[in-house]
Amino acid sequence: MRHALSAPRSIREVIVDTVIYFILVPMVYISFAVFFIGTALRLIKIFREPKHPATLQVYPEKNPKWLWALHDTFLFPTVRRHKPLLWVFLMLFHICLGLLIIGHIELFAEINIIQVIPHEIFLGQGYLGLLLAIALLYFLFRRFASPVRDLSVPEDYYLLILLFLIVIFGSEMDWARRWYGYEGMTVDDYREYLMSLLYLDPYLPETVTDSGHSFMLVLHVFFANLFLLFFPFSQSMHSFLSLPMNKLRRG
Ligand code: HEM
Repeated sequence: MRHALSAPRSIREVIVDTVIYFILVPMVYISFAVFFIGTALRLIKIFREPKHPATLQVYPEKNPKWLWALHDTFLFPTVRRHKPLLWVFLMLFHICLGLLIIGHIELFAEINIIQVIPHEIFLGQGYLGLLLAIALLYFLFRRFASPVRDLSVPEDYYLLILLFLIVIFGSEMDWARRWYGYEGMTVDDYREYLMSLLYLDPYLPETVTDSGHSFMLVLHVFFANLFLLFFPFSQSMHSFLSLPMNKLRRG
């Protein structure tokens, strides 16, 4: 294991360096392992459950069925009809989430196909994180009023607050670089760190651990790890089930 941490200084600094190293390296591996294995095991368990006695199919039948299942899954027609404002924020959130995954892939290396629309890293000019933060605040605040409050469980609030913290610390890193010209931690540093994780030869460049903004990366990754550890055991797993469920409904 290699890291650029300077020679240990005081006990306190050794502890801080170790905690930073644990969050940015082993905890990332553990949380991704739990996320993928936990999600797979949950899905296997759900699909092994006995079939629902009554048909879930909706009528009149619309063809092609797979296309209507995709429509129901990604365009939330029921929400659109009954809660248009929630629908706007749901669409905004899910589109930004898709772009966010692409943005994180680009943090590993330059990928030409993603640069079909030439853009600076992180994609979105910093607005992706901003829109996600606004959508998450909407999802959180609507749970403070009835009837949504009465239907909510504590887990809903924890998950939304956790996601909001992840998004805020991730965005701040980008806003500092892009909107305030901060150069202490660059995309090349992220790439050196993230590629070393991918090649299972973890390396922490000095800027990632010692620069003025490194605590934001550490907090971003820490909360992201917590989310990935928590997700397979949460209700949000429904997101993986919506497509097969809509396929069932569309026959
Ligand atoms: C649940 C998982 C995660 C979510 C929701 C998330 C969310 C975000 C958001 C919203 C941004 C800012 C986008 C913008 O600038 O508009 C961001 C940036 C970033 N994220 Fe994540 N992230 C997650 C996991 C991770 C993980 C696990 C790592 C690293 C191990 C990571 C590393 C980064 C880095 C390096 C940036 C770039 C900041 C910059 O542009 O300066 N993220 N993330």
